[in-house]
Amino acid sequence: MADTAADPSAIDLSALESELLNDVAKAMDLGALDAVRVSALGKKGRISELMAKLGAMPADQRKAFGQAVNNVKAAVSEALDQKKATLEVAALAARLANEHSDITLPVRVGPEAQGRIHPVSQVLDECIEIFADMGFKVAEGPDIESDDYNFTKLNIPAEHPARQEHDTFYLKTKPGSNAAPLVLRTHTSPVQIRTMLGQKPPIRIIAPGRVYRCDSDQTHTPMFHQIEGLVIDETTHMGHLKWVLEEMCKAFFEVDTVTMRFRASHFPFTEPSMEIDIDKGALGKPGEWLEIGGCGMVHPNVLRNCGLDPETYQGFAFGMGLDRMAMLKYGIPDLRPFFAGDLKWLRHYGFSILDQPTLGGGLSS
Ligand code: PHE
Repeated sequence: MADTAADPSAIDLSALESELLNDVAKAMDLGALDAVRVSALGKKGRISELMAKLGAMPADQRKAFGQAVNNVKAAVSEALDQKKATLEVAALAARLANEHSDITLPVRVGPEAQGRIHPVSQVLDECIEIFADMGFKVAEGPDIESDDYNFTKLNIPAEHPARQEHDTFYLKTKPGSNAAPLVLRTHTSPVQIRTMLGQKPPIRIIAPGRVYRCDSDQTHTPMFHQIEGLVIDETTHMGHLKWVLEEMCKAFFEVDTVTMRFRASHFPFTEPSMEIDIDKGALGKPGEWLEIGGCGMVHPNVLRNCGLDPETYQGFAFGMGLDRMAMLKYGIPDLRPFFAGDLKWLRHYGFSILDQPTLGGGLSS
């Protein structure tokens, strides 16, 4: 027997070819066929190994032998391709014969249809949709706020009685440190300051977010949500404020008319200041007033604290309780379960994530 390891030209190429072609013919599925391909043409395949030995052959033999190996390779490759095409057609035919879909079955409910949007998120999305339509942008500020932005720049100096009304959570400062004190913001009004310090008028923003007060009963929780509004330019007046809030309430409660009452009040950062009441008539209880927030014309001191000249600039601000608005609109009696993480409650009061609030398609459904 010839020593093919030492002399590859001694190998019977036609026997190799018919052996490999026979293997191809016997392969009954794509997996088996691929195994044949690897055994012949893979890195360590029998044809590849012959090719690798060409370099070591005497030049006079190399050309003829190389040609012959190439012919085998071409024949085997072609057979592999043809067989692959045949097997693929057969595999597809088998799938078509065996698989059928029953198109009369209902659509399977995926996890996204089971999830629920929390009423506060729903009401927030509704408010953003309404205010965006009026040209407001959404601004944000941190939950941990400086005492300066939460109080002082809003015209509430140290020792002002309004500080006591807010039941503030103060953050501990390191003993001996003279770093400025930090608080959990007691309202979203510091975002007014951040906005006026950060951009020039005209300003038209809303600022929704979490606020914190050390208070807890059926209608108060230590953390709740507000939505702040701020408009500053050279001509905005109280008529605009009332119009914006009225349009907002009509859109929010999805009614054609609302009766509102602006009750004189006091906030250090607005002058004049008003409490916003709406008549519950829109909700089927005429004659009962409900307070939904505070508002007023931005106090000249606040404008000055933010580097704006009150002789040139003026505008209004408002702040409303998002949780209260959710309770009112969706008839939720108690505030505490809003933050209890109870799935049963959420399934009852929550909203489908597939129903995005839009003015055109309806805010709630
Ligand atoms: N920040 C006030 C509060 O939390 C509400 C408010 C905002 C009043 C803006 C007037 C203007 O009670």
